[in-house]
Amino acid sequence: MFLKLFLVMVFLSYLALMGLILGHRFLPSARNTPPLPRKDTAFDGSTELIVELENVGKSFDYPVLKDVSFKIRQGETLGVLGKSGSGKSVTLKLIAGLLKPDVGRILFHGKDITGMNERELLELRKRVSYVFQGGAIFDFLNVGENIAYPLRERGMKDEKKIKERVDYLLAAVELGNMGHLQKPELSIGAKKQVAIARAIANDPEVILYDEPTTGIDPIVKKSVNRLIRKLNKQEHLTSIVVTHDLKCIEMVADRIIMLKDGVIHFEGDQEAFHSSPDPYIQAFIAGKRFDEDRRQDPEVRIQESEDQRQETGDRRDQNRE
Ligand SMILES: Nc1ncnc2c1ncn2[C@@H]1O[C@H](COP(=O)(O)OP(=O)(O)OP(=O)(O)O)[C@@H](O)[C@H]1O
Ligand SMILES: [Mg+2]
Repeated sequence: MFLKLFLVMVFLSYLALMGLILGHRFLPSARNTPPLPRKDTAFDGSTELIVELENVGKSFDYPVLKDVSFKIRQGETLGVLGKSGSGKSVTLKLIAGLLKPDVGRILFHGKDITGMNERELLELRKRVSYVFQGGAIFDFLNVGENIAYPLRERGMKDEKKIKERVDYLLAAVELGNMGHLQKPELSIGAKKQVAIARAIANDPEVILYDEPTTGIDPIVKKSVNRLIRKLNKQEHLTSIVVTHDLKCIEMVADRIIMLKDGVIHFEGDQEAFHSSPDPYIQAFIAGKRFDEDRRQDPEVRIQESEDQRQETGDRRDQNRE
């Protein structure tokens, strides 16, 4: 009897040992995935580099990024400017590991992400969160469930803990009592706030904002900008904010880069940007201010909507003909 039991135990130990050896041999994670360096917790005006781009190039139909290099330090907010099509969103997608560069390296905590496998990229995306240009949130979930989604996806099961975290996030983005609302009931600004809450739900280190204030009115814009600033301090986030909105840059960015013709045309702080004698920057600032002021002028708004009506009418007439 004892002998039988002994033999069964020896056999089970043998199986367990083989499992360990084979698992180590064949699982990609166990084979070649050294863990990413751990997060540094508190913002201390540190000089620790979090993200570095080194001579990055990316082409589609044409070279969008030719040779782009820049660095972001912990706790810093980098504003990225550039005209439409200059590669701002592509830059964010490269940093989030959603696209791969054709040439160059992208380092996260000193580790090159360009050669990472899917499993490593999933790990990276837990730590580098992305608020998409459209601020996409799910139609079929209410606000609270939208924010809870990434928590559940990452395996959080305790409903009490989920509710606590969702309540904390709702308060953080100033949507305190709106957890029950559905997407159609939300203003564009509130949708952005939900998207931001969802992006920070899993306590990322880096948050990438793609046009966080586009399409919202000036008052809500201000509160989204304040929110970005506040979260950076409160949650110790390092951020990159891509935007056309100069007011947003003024409110949130510690440093600015401007993309033009596939390279960094400008890199520096707010003061250097605004006092730059570069004609392209001067024209960019003047043009943006002109556009922003025009759009806020009620007479221009009336004129624009009349122009639009006229245009729609013209098109309808053309279709009838
Ligand atoms: N997946 C893709 N496939 C093909 N072309 C792409 C892809 N992603 C981006 N592009 C092209 O790369 C160029 C830069 O795109 P990107 O979205 O980065 O511009 P952007 O600076 O963010 O512009 P905007 O201010 O209008 O958002 C564009 O010409 C775009 O068409
Ligand atoms: Mg874009």
